[in-house]
Parts: sequence; C-alpha cells; structure tokens
Amino acid sequence: MTDAARTTATISRLGHQGDGVADGPLFSPRTLPGETVSGIAEGSRLTNVRIETPSEHRVQPPCRHYKSCGGCQLQHASDAFVAAWKTDVVRNALSAQGLATEFRPIHTSPPQSRRRATLAVRRTKKGAMAGFHGQASDVITEIPDCQLLEPALLAALPVAEALAMAGASRKAPLAVTVTASDAGLDMLVRNGKPLDGRLRIELAQLAEQHRIARLTWEDEPVAMEQPPVQSFGAARVCPPPGAFLQATREGEAALLAGVLEITRGAKRIVDLFAGCGTFSLPLAQAAEVHAVEGERGMLDALDAGWRKAKGLKKVTTATRDLFRNPLLPEDLNPFGAAFEAAVIDPPRAGAEAQIAQLAKARTPAVAYVSCNPVSFARDAKALISAGYCLDWVQVVDQFRWSAHTELVAQFTLED
Ligand SMILES: C[S@@+](CC[C@H](N)C(=O)[O-])C[C@H]1O[C@@H](n2cnc3c(N)ncnc32)[C@H](O)[C@@H]1O
Repeated sequence: MTDAARTTATISRLGHQGDGVADGPLFSPRTLPGETVSGIAEGSRLTNVRIETPSEHRVQPPCRHYKSCGGCQLQHASDAFVAAWKTDVVRNALSAQGLATEFRPIHTSPPQSRRRATLAVRRTKKGAMAGFHGQASDVITEIPDCQLLEPALLAALPVAEALAMAGASRKAPLAVTVTASDAGLDMLVRNGKPLDGRLRIELAQLAEQHRIARLTWEDEPVAMEQPPVQSFGAARVCPPPGAFLQATREGEAALLAGVLEITRGAKRIVDLFAGCGTFSLPLAQAAEVHAVEGERGMLDALDAGWRKAKGLKKVTTATRDLFRNPLLPEDLNPFGAAFEAAVIDPPRAGAEAQIAQLAKARTPAVAYVSCNPVSFARDAKALISAGYCLDWVQVVDQFRWSAHTELVAQFTLED
C-alpha cells in the first residue's frame, strides 16, 4: 500500500466508545486527542492506523494481549488521562442539561479486579480456546495474562475450555459467564449443546473435578458443590445464576461508601432497583430497608440472606416493574412511616418515571447510582427542577480501560 493512499487526520476528541474522532467525523480506534494519525479511510472509519505524532498521554499498554483482544479499549492512555476523560463525560452530560456540581476525586478499580466476565469459548481441532472476542471481530483472543480479570477468573479459563470440549457445538462458541464467589466459581453457560443424560453426567463430573461452586447450563442447574455466596455487609447471599453484581469489589465498596454517607441518619430507606441487596443489606445494619426490584429471584436471594444474617434491622422486599409502575408518593410516604432516604440504581435507561414520583414525594435524600451519565443527567435535571440540590458526584470507574462510566451522586431537598 502506498503512503499516497493514506489519509492524515488530527484527533480532536474521544467518542462514546473511546475511539478517537477527527473532523468528518472520522473514527480512529485506539488514538488520543491531539494525535496526528494516518490510515485508510473506509466510510467514517480509519483503518490500518499509524500514529504519526503521539500524545503525551499515550502509554505502553500494560497487557500483552491488548493489540488483538477487544476486551479493553483504553490501555494506550495513561490512568490520569482516562480519569480526566471519564470525569468530563459526566461533567459534559450535566452541562448539556444546564447543570454543574462538585466532583469528588474519581475512584478507579485496580488492575486484575474484575470479578465477573463473559468469556467466548470454542472448540478447536486440538481442543478448545477461551478468551474475549477481538476488536469488532468474531475471532477469539486467548488471554492467559489478562490484566483485567481477578486471578480466580483467570483460573476459570481452562475450566471453560473443558466445558466447551464436553458441550460446545462445532458451529457456535459458548458464552460462559464466570463470577468469583466466596465459595469458588459460579459458571453459567449459554449456546451449548442441548442437555441430555450423558452430557449432564459429564458436566457434573467436570464441576466436581474443577471444584466449580455452581454450574448452570442455559437455565438448568447442573451442579452445586457449594452455594456461590456473595457477602453484602453482614449477610451472605446466593444470587440467581448470571444475576447482576457490581463489576469489582473495590467499585462496589466505593459506591456503597457514597450510599452510606448520603443516607446516614435515615431510619427508613427505600432501595429502588435493589438487585440482590448490594446496598440494602449493608444499609440494614443501621436502618429499616424496603428493597424493590423487577426480578423476583434476586429478591428471594436477598430475603434469604437477610433471614440468615444476625443483627440486621428489618428488610422487606417487593417485586415491581419500576418503569411502568413506579412507587407513588403514597407508597413512599405511608402514614407515619415516610422513607427518609432513597437509593436508586437503575439500568442504563435511567429512572425517569420513578424519579418523577420521588420528586413528588419529596423524599429528603436521594443516593443516585448510575451506569449512564446521559440518563443520569436527564434525571438529575428533573430532581433539581423539583427543588433538590445536586451536592456532589463521585465517578467510580469499575470498568477500567473501557469507555464505560459509573457514578454515585447525592441529592438533598433544599429548604
Ligand atoms: C444496575 S442494577 C443494580 C442492582 C443493585 N442495586 C446492585 O447494586 O447490585 C439494576 C437492577 O435493576 C433491575 N431492573 C431492571 N429493569 C427494571 C424495572 N423495569 N423495574 C425494576 N427493576 C428493574 C435489574 O434486575 C437490576 O437488578
């Protein structure tokens, strides 16, 4: 290829996926603002990218798999750059709604701390291979020295390969969701061969041999050597297979610290989008908690954990679709027992309907945990329009080296 066929561009910013963006727009993966790059323009993408003038924020990627693996997007940028960029993503989302606030220093989870991942695993002529898909590709990259995953998850790679040899079809790779639990690996396998008697026996043997705490094939339990419990404060909870958990223990602790601070002193707290009790159960150390969530199985796990724990205050649960059927002011302020604080941790869409009702109910303190700065800023605007103050935001980066941004924020009602 001649240099004449190459386009030269200057990267002005990072897009939502962490790609560099030049005028056009021209998207150039793994580049940084201020860099001059060259490559082949294919539509709005630059391929075969060469860095002509590197940014001062460019670093040697810490992981040897980064070049081929699609699991991470920002290993070529310094931690300081990523911290400032993620903070700006939230600041800009707020500013697009005409809002500003104090930002606490970002909390970034350390390398090798991801407690949960979905591996792609396929059979090969010689056996099987487990890893992550490459950048925008179906090719699986093996990741024995991955810098993202907890050591316990790295130890799951050969186990996932053994599962593929037993039960992957030749056509499609398995999707193996692995979660590190207090009792060992919790593994959920999708896209496998249908379970029959022979496969069931083989999988149960593998579970025993590799000491998998729990193995689930599609939606069927295959083996449970030990309940794969997670500790939430004083309680131990066995979540349903594949259930949501915060991505790292450190990120969870940072979010929880914010939630505890915002709700301190409240005697009755409502936890909305409560999951398996990540926040409800630690909060129950000092307050009565009502946990509301759309998935019955998660609340059953939360409830069972609460019943076995010692010294916690009362926790009640309710299964409810909070998008269609948000808690109303009369639910939030029942006679003589109003909730003094709310925790809300919705999925990416945010919580437009529930936030409108919280604002009407005038719940005095709201701890908002968000995985999407744009829906967060929209909901923040609604609370502020209703008389709340956005006191501070703490960005929590538990998806290190990705373009994902999470946060916890304090809202209080102004007098
Ligand atoms: C980001 S997770 C947070 C879970 C929990 N707070 C935690 O930290 O582990 C969002 C939760 O919202 C629940 N959810 C999603 N859509 C919902 C809906 N329409 N109504 C109620 N809960 C919903 C999911 O099941 C999930 O548990």
